[in-house]
Amino acid sequence: MLRALSVLALLAPGWLHAQVTVTSPDSRNRVTVEVREGRLYYSLARDGRALVLPSLLGFEFRGAAPLRDGLRITDTARTSHDEWWTQPWGEVARVHDHHNELAVSVEEIAAPSRRLTLRVRSFNDGVGFRYEFPEQPGLGAFEITEELTEFALADNARAWWIASNWPRKDRSEELYSAGPVSTLDSVQTPLTLEGRDGRTFMVIHEANLVDYARMFLRGPRMEGRTLHADLAPMADGIKVRGKTPFVTPWRTIQLADHATELAPSLLGLNLNPPNALATTNWIHPMKYVGIWWGMHINTMTWSSGPKHGATTATAKRYIDFAAANRFGGVLVEGWNTGWDGDWIANRDAFSFTTSYPDYDLAAVATYARQKGVRLIVHNETSGGIQNYERQMDSAFALYKSLGLDAIKSGYVTDLTTEGHSHYSQFMVQHYRRVIETAARYGIMLDVHEPMHDTGERRTWPNMMSREGARGQEYNAWSGDGGNPPEHETILFFTRLLAGPMDFTPGIFDILIERGTGRPRRPDEPRVRTTLAKQLALYVALYSPLQMAADLPENYERQPAFQFIRDVAVDWDTTRVIDGRIGDYVVVARRQRGGQTWFLGAITDEERRTLDAPLSFLTPGRRYIAEIYADGPKAHWLDNPLPVTISRRAVTAATVLRLNLAPGGGQAIRIRPAE
Ligand code: NOJ
Ligand code: CA
Repeated sequence: MLRALSVLALLAPGWLHAQVTVTSPDSRNRVTVEVREGRLYYSLARDGRALVLPSLLGFEFRGAAPLRDGLRITDTARTSHDEWWTQPWGEVARVHDHHNELAVSVEEIAAPSRRLTLRVRSFNDGVGFRYEFPEQPGLGAFEITEELTEFALADNARAWWIASNWPRKDRSEELYSAGPVSTLDSVQTPLTLEGRDGRTFMVIHEANLVDYARMFLRGPRMEGRTLHADLAPMADGIKVRGKTPFVTPWRTIQLADHATELAPSLLGLNLNPPNALATTNWIHPMKYVGIWWGMHINTMTWSSGPKHGATTATAKRYIDFAAANRFGGVLVEGWNTGWDGDWIANRDAFSFTTSYPDYDLAAVATYARQKGVRLIVHNETSGGIQNYERQMDSAFALYKSLGLDAIKSGYVTDLTTEGHSHYSQFMVQHYRRVIETAARYGIMLDVHEPMHDTGERRTWPNMMSREGARGQEYNAWSGDGGNPPEHETILFFTRLLAGPMDFTPGIFDILIERGTGRPRRPDEPRVRTTLAKQLALYVALYSPLQMAADLPENYERQPAFQFIRDVAVDWDTTRVIDGRIGDYVVVARRQRGGQTWFLGAITDEERRTLDAPLSFLTPGRRYIAEIYADGPKAHWLDNPLPVTISRRAVTAATVLRLNLAPGGGQAIRIRPAE
C-alpha cells in the first residue's frame, strides 16, 4: 500500500515525492536527488550500497525565510562529458574528465517562488554537486547565515581529522586524530573516511572556492553520523554575501576501494574551470633553498640586528650554493622592513618594496640572474590584508622589473584587521585577487597559512604550492616536540589529497645540533624521522616547489644530498604502490618528459619490510636503481643518521625489498641503464 502511494505521488502533478538519479560512467556511483515533503535531499550509493543517506540541502538567510521548505522539482537536464586534458605541471600530466551530469531545477511552491538548480556530476572516482541561483525576481542580493548541506553517512567510518580552524588559532597546522564519525565535533576538509569494511574510502572536500566562505564540517557530537556544512564567518557573522546569478563551490565526495587509490586525487581538478592563462611557459616547477631554517632554529633573525639573516652577503652565499647544485630558486625571508618588534601586532607596518639597509635587493637579484638562479620573494602579511593589497601592484611591478617571478607569501594571523575569520569569504576573495594579480605580473605563488586548496591550480597554474598543514617548521620550535613519525603517513592520505604542499623536507641535522652548536635536550623539539625518510619525503609529499630546507652547510660532505640534487619536481605519472593511512606509504613517480622514476617509501614509528614490484617500468628495458636506505640499526629516536647508498640493476620484473627503520624511509632513483 505504502509503495503504491509513493509511486502515485511520483506521477501526481505537483510531485509530493519526486526522485531523479545520475550514475557514474562505470555505473558504480549513483546520486539520487529527491524532494520529500517539500524538502530537497541527495543521497549516494556505490555498487548499490548506501554510503550517504538522504541528506538535506538548502540555505538560511538574514532578512529572508530559509530556502528549504515547500520545494518542488520543476525540471531536470542531463549531459555527459568525456575529455582528456593536460596539466602544465602536476602529479600526472594527463587528466581524464569523464562524468555524467544531472541538473535539477527546484522552486518554492509559494511566493516568492525562489529558484535554485542543483548540479550534480558523477565520476568513477567520486561525485560533486553545487547550488546555482539563477537571476530571478524573488532572489536578488542575499546574505547567507547557514548552508544546510548535510552528509548523512551510512557507516560509522573511521575519520582522519583535524579540528575546525574557527575559532581555533592554528591555520590548519595541527596533528591528525582518528576516530569514528559519530564522535566528531567540528573538523576540516579534506576529511578522509575509512569504511569499517576496509574497502570503502571517502573524502569529503570542496572544489572551486571562488567567492564564498570556506566549508568546515560540524559533527554529530555523539548523536548519529550526520556531518553538517559549517561556513567560516565574516566579522558580522554573515557567511556569504552575494547576488544572483550566483554559484557555490562544489561539495565533493571522492570514492575509492583502497587507500592507495586515493592519490593522486583528480576529482577536484576536474571540477575547476580550465586554464585561464594565455601562456604557461613562464611557470617552472623547481627546487629551492632559503634563508629560512636559521630563523626557525634561532641562529638567525627576520628582524634587523647582529643575527639578521637576510644580508646581501648571506644571500649571495645561498645563491652560490643553489647554482652549484642546480636548484632553481633561493628564498630570502626577513629582507623587507617591518619585522622589528611584534611583527604580528604591527602587521600594517610591513613594506613589500623597502629592504633593510644590509640587503640590496637589486644587487642580489642581479647576482642571482647571473648565476642562473631566481630569488623567491617573501611577503609575510600577518593578515594585514589592506596593507598588502595597497602595495600589491607596486610591489609586484618592482619584482617583475628585477626579473623575480616567484613569491612565498604568509598569513600568520587568526583574524584580519577587520575581524574576519582567516577562512571567510573576505579572505577567499583576497587570496583569489592575489593569484590573479600575480598572474598578470608573471609571478608564481607559494602561500603559507593559505586558504585550503580547492583545485585553483587548474585555472591559475601560477598558484603552485601552499602550506595549510603542520610542516617541517614545527620540528624546530613546537612546544610538543615536533611532528611524530606517523605524521607524514597521514598527510599523504588527507591534506595532500587537496593539492601540493610546501612541507619543506630535507633536514639532515636531525637533532638540530650542528646548526645551533649543541645537541638538543630530549625535551626540546627536533626532527622525528631518520635521514633517509627526509629524502623519501621529496617523492611522497608532492610539491612543484620543493625546498631543500636545511642550512647549506649541513649538506656539505653528505653523500645522501645527491638524492636531493637528482630528484624531480614535476611528474608524468604517479603510482601509489602500497600504503595504509597513518602507517606507511610507497609511491613511485615518473619524471615529466623523461624515463627516470623516483620511489619514496615512508613509515611511522614501526619498522617495516615492504616489497615493491617495479612492474611500472618499461618491460624489457634495463635500469639502474640508486638506493638510499636506512643504515644498520637506524632508528628515528636514537640513531637517525645512518644511510646506506647502493646501486643495482633492475627491470620491470624486479621486486625490491624495502627495509624501513622505525620512523624511517627509503628513496630510490631508477634511471635507464643505457
Ligand atoms: C610561517 C611560515 O610557515 C614560515 O615558513 C615562515 O618562515 C614564517 N611564517 C614567517 O613568515
Ligand atoms: Ca606556517
